[in-house]
Amino acid sequence: MDTLIKKEKKQQTDTFPINGTDYVEFYVGNAKQSALYYQVAFGYELVAYKGPETGSRETVSYVLQQDKIRLVLTSAYDPDHEILKHVHRHGDGVKVLALWVDDAESAFNKSVANGAKPAFEPHTIKDDDGEIKLAAIHTYGETIHTFVERKNYRGVFMPGFQPKQSTRKTEPVGLKFIDHCVGNVELGQMNRWIKFYQDVLGFKLLITFDDKDISTKYTALMSKVVSNGNGYIKFPINEPAKGVKKSQIEEYLDFYKSAGVQHIAVATDDIIKTVRQLRANGVDFLYVPDNYYEDLLDRVGEIDESLEDLKEQNILVDRDNEGYLLQIFTKPVQDRPTLFYEIIQRKGAESFGKGNFKALFEAIEREQELRGTL
Ligand code: FE2
Repeated sequence: MDTLIKKEKKQQTDTFPINGTDYVEFYVGNAKQSALYYQVAFGYELVAYKGPETGSRETVSYVLQQDKIRLVLTSAYDPDHEILKHVHRHGDGVKVLALWVDDAESAFNKSVANGAKPAFEPHTIKDDDGEIKLAAIHTYGETIHTFVERKNYRGVFMPGFQPKQSTRKTEPVGLKFIDHCVGNVELGQMNRWIKFYQDVLGFKLLITFDDKDISTKYTALMSKVVSNGNGYIKFPINEPAKGVKKSQIEEYLDFYKSAGVQHIAVATDDIIKTVRQLRANGVDFLYVPDNYYEDLLDRVGEIDESLEDLKEQNILVDRDNEGYLLQIFTKPVQDRPTLFYEIIQRKGAESFGKGNFKALFEAIEREQELRGTL
């Protein structure tokens, strides 16, 4: 499996170069309060704003940043606005996974020629700091990929936004960059969307997990991971598999009302410190029982971290042929049991924590049980 990762990485088949994730945009019911949540709980810094005061009459957006991660929280005023219709149907959730490209028009044209459905046509927006070119295509559910070309822009985010700081001093928690973004799709749709990323963007299949890899006594799911050539963009796609009870993927689909982004994994280089701070800030994590740690070192071998610290913070560890990784998952960050976050620290490992799947899914099932949705 891990040999597969290495081999595939050498064959770059990207339809066009992607430099990384440009931003993730959420449509939310109250952007002002969500923006404060991400500042206080996750240590993001407010950097830009767009709203009525800056000439945006219909929508309001807050831009937050921590190291290379940029989040945009957007809402609207009119109940008939498409943003509030999206919120009405899905709850707060990810609308845009924006990809940073060298040439947005060419990215769009090539994607559409390869079968993508256009979301909006290429266009240029300008202000005194330069210009940005944007275009977008649809992906699973109501999610879109916006192509962002920003080589001629010097401003804080994008034309239309003004720099904005919070009166509250931000304390970053060590979140560095987006490691991967996971989509949940309907039963039978995983292969369609994997093929979409292969055909449209030229991504390579990295890993396949079937229901034998990812199942507990009650529930199961299947997953495949695609990546671009430089590995900066990794998109695992999950679909539910048949189990005795309702899988976490079905629960997500029931509550989100369509396919959508399930979790965003963000990288840190000191997970113990990051998680300790996040907990102090009020972030809730999934609980894995203490017995997980009893034979941990037998399973993963020698690691740099103290077992006590890992146990105290409830951090999970897994090893593959290249090294190991540490990871932990938050509980959902909105009322509906939809989007959550993963905090991940990679120490050589390029995989996704397969050895933790069972412990993790049992932890999720305990939460589902409490919600009465299992
Ligand atoms: Fe993940």
